Amino acid sequence: MIRTIRFLGDPVLRRETTPVDRFDAELERFVADLIETMYDAEGVGLAAPQVGDPRRVTVIDVGTARDGSEVTPLVNPRIAAQEGRVDSEEGCLSIPGIVETIDRAAKVEVEYQDVRGESHRIVGEGLLGRALQHEIDHLDGILFIDRLGPLKRRMAVREWRRLMAEQGVEVDA
Ligand code: CO
Repeated sequence: MIRTIRFLGDPVLRRETTPVDRFDAELERFVADLIETMYDAEGVGLAAPQVGDPRRVTVIDVGTARDGSEVTPLVNPRIAAQEGRVDSEEGCLSIPGIVETIDRAAKVEVEYQDVRGESHRIVGEGLLGRALQHEIDHLDGILFIDRLGPLKRRMAVREWRRLMAEQGVEVDA
């Protein structure tokens, strides 16, 4: 089921998420919804708070197939190690239309559980490394524009409000 994506200004995006301790059929259904919603919105990642759910869950697919063959659902992910820094352009389904250059770690190692509760490790650089950091930020109530300087951040929010107003979308930001 495709869920409604929440926009900047929705308080659920700012809430600290709760770790998952029930690895059941409901979690599997929820993850399937996240994946469907991400593909529908043509994103490379989507975090639970973006559909109004407070759990520590995110899905990432930086591949080109868009058929579920390269998707990674991450439950209770955390960054275990990181190295280097790199600037790259980034956007977010919760702030559609805004792209900014963001400084992040060049490479990260992330520990997470799958939908059955089994532990895994993933190492990502390039787009995957960036998506991992962006989505884990969501689980901590952080949006990518928070990583801009205050002036650039204000300009980005103003531009986004203008874009939303043009499309007749009411926002709270
Ligand atoms: Co995002």
